[in-house]
Parts: sequence; C-alpha cells; structure tokens
Amino acid sequence: MKKLLVTTLLFYSTATLSFSAEKYDTQAFRTVTKLCTPCHGTPFYMAKQIDEDDWDFFFETPGMLEKIHKGKPKGLSSLKNALFQKRKKRILKFFVNNSKFSGKVNGCDANFCGTNH
Ligand code: HEC
Repeated sequence: MKKLLVTTLLFYSTATLSFSAEKYDTQAFRTVTKLCTPCHGTPFYMAKQIDEDDWDFFFETPGMLEKIHKGKPKGLSSLKNALFQKRKKRILKFFVNNSKFSGKVNGCDANFCGTNH
C-alpha cells in the first residue's frame, strides 16, 4: 500500500515537472523549423494560419498533406523525412496547441524570439 502511494506521488510530481519545464514541445518545434519553415515561416507563425479543425483535417486525412504538396519536391521530401514521420503526432499536437484561436502568444526563449515570420 505504501509502495503504491509513493509510486503515485512520484508519477504526479514527474508529470508536473515535465509540464512546467517547457511551455511547448521543443522537439516538434525544431523538426518543423528544419522541414517546413523554409516555405511556411516559423513554427508558431505556421501554426497560427489555420484553426485546430483544419490541422486535424490536413494531418488525419490519408494522403492529404502529400496531395497539397504535389509539384513541390522539397515539400514532399520533408513529408517523407523520417523525423517528420516519427514525430507526426507530436507535430500535429504542437500545431493544434498553437493554432489560430488558441490565444497563444510566445515571447522570447532559447529557440524563438518573438518574430513571426
Ligand atoms: C517547398 C515548400 C514547402 C515545404 C518545405 C512545405 N510546404 Fe506545406 N505548403 C507549401 C505550399 C506552397 C502550400 C500551399 C498549397 C496551396 O495552397 O495550394 C502548402 C500548404 C500546406 C498546408 C495546407 C494549409 C495551408 O497553410 O495552406 C499544410 C497543412 C502544410 N503545407 C503542411 C506542411 C508541413 C507540415 C510541412 C513540413 C513537414 C510543409 N508543409 C513543408 C509549400 C511547402
């Protein structure tokens, strides 16, 4: 019983710590910066262009992202990139969290400093 309590407490404190340490998923942020920013602007700017339903639609409809980028070889190769494939779920979550009506405005930190494009 005591062991269960300690485990539970440990779980919650770790979860709280990892949430408070970062305000957004920096790994998703870096992947988008590398693969999408050359055409779409910074990850926060990109995220703001559409609302969360649209993000879900583009990411969850099979073949949709590829269809949009047809005739854009660089876009297609970004979508095929192993990092994008591996982190697709996290990247979608990042976009949804920072989407058009999310009300998020990011200030300066080590990765990003307030510019929008
Ligand atoms: C070579 C440039 C290029 C790259 C790289 C690129 N895109 Fe795009 N993307 C475009 C263009 C151009 C459009 C607009 C197509 C249209 O409107 O017909 C677009 C449209 C989109 C849209 C539809 C919504 C919108 O804003 O118009 C989504 C979603 C999207 N891209 C996601 C991504 C993601 C995620 C990545 C990175 C993995 C990425 N793109 C990388 C060029 C690019």
